[in-house]
Amino acid sequence: MTDIFQKCFEYEEAKFVKASGLYPFFKPIDTSSGSTVTYEGRKVVMIGSNNYLGLTHDPFVKKRAKEAIERFGTGCTGSRFLNGNTVLHDLLEKKLAKLVGKEEALVFATGFLTNLGSIACLVGAEDTIFSDAENHASIIEGCRLSKAIVVTYRHNDPFDLQKKLSDLPKNTGSLLVTDGVFSMTGDIVNLPQLISVKKIYPKLRLMIDDAHGLGVLGKRGEGTAGHFGLTEEVDLIMGTFSKSFASIGGFLAGPSDVIDYVRHKARSFMFSAAMPPASAATVLACLELLEKKPERLGRLRENVTYITRGFESIGLSFIPSETPIVSVFVGDEGQAFHLVKDLFENGVFATPVVYPAVPFGQAIIRTSYMATHTKKELDFVLGVFKKLSPKYGILKNTLEIPEEMTHRSQGYNFKALGKRH
Ligand SMILES: Cc1ncc(COP(=O)(O)O)c(C=O)c1O
Repeated sequence: MTDIFQKCFEYEEAKFVKASGLYPFFKPIDTSSGSTVTYEGRKVVMIGSNNYLGLTHDPFVKKRAKEAIERFGTGCTGSRFLNGNTVLHDLLEKKLAKLVGKEEALVFATGFLTNLGSIACLVGAEDTIFSDAENHASIIEGCRLSKAIVVTYRHNDPFDLQKKLSDLPKNTGSLLVTDGVFSMTGDIVNLPQLISVKKIYPKLRLMIDDAHGLGVLGKRGEGTAGHFGLTEEVDLIMGTFSKSFASIGGFLAGPSDVIDYVRHKARSFMFSAAMPPASAATVLACLELLEKKPERLGRLRENVTYITRGFESIGLSFIPSETPIVSVFVGDEGQAFHLVKDLFENGVFATPVVYPAVPFGQAIIRTSYMATHTKKELDFVLGVFKKLSPKYGILKNTLEIPEEMTHRSQGYNFKALGKRH
């Protein structure tokens, strides 16, 4: 017999980085104001979160969360199936269905559990899943759990998808699943083209993971499908509350019959405790604010334009983006860790992204912005990048960004055009 712990005893990578003093993960934050945090006694500007609307510290949102604790206590201590359901969860589902334009929604304890449970119960071993090469890990795990055949198509490439779909045996069920906004580089799915391909296959179902599109895209923050005016064409919309909605939890929205099926079959829903009442109340408050004060979305978009123009004027090697995720290409992983440390020492909290989230040798600094970042904070961030970028060689004229990364924001892989025949 071998020892399953042996690989742990031999695992050196994290120890090696820790020994170098550059380990950039699990930083314990002391206090937070949203757009700034203090860590190791230093106040720094936060550009490493998913708090796009900056609602985690909104007084109205916090008040609602506190009221929910007073009314329901701190936790549900059980599955929604049994003792863990509250009127807040039910109301939240109604509001979410309305926001994304679907018949019904089902709220899970996290976004990860939403993808895991929904995909695994809707798709079976006899079916096929078509999945974007850069889909989130929770989709990948949901696909694995379903035991379906998983066909991965090139990132955001409808031609590659079409080619792969044409090999599909006639009598199998199939799901096309994609992120709406890709979490690492912020590019938006090429939904119009994906839907033209989908139309060739009337029984193909489409699911969008809109974790990073909700509260960001669309006139009302309704997400990617609404942004393109294609809500009707998308069968299922999944979302999470761990980004714009300042909380924790996830949901799946779609036709009533499908949602009811998932409610009674998804094991990650049935056998996991409900999200805490304060978390549900937080999301409800965020939705109320978004409805009453949609100008927050405008402020977020202004900040994204401001920072991307600033990066452009510095000549920084960043990946063009229309979303709050604006990643700076570094390439070398060690260099990325050094840069993150230096950014921090200069007053900026940012996070490196390395393999397996991106391919080896394509490390990025994922920066992201909030509606509540002030111009002063953004100018500060720009000043720090301007100061450090020559030292790290992260200027467009000295560092080549891999083509597949720079072409992302067009949502269109033109190389595939040539390869079609
Ligand atoms: C695209 C995407 N889907 C799903 C999830 C999982 O969401 P949660 O944090 O609610 O588990 C995330 C979070 O990282 C994500 O980025």
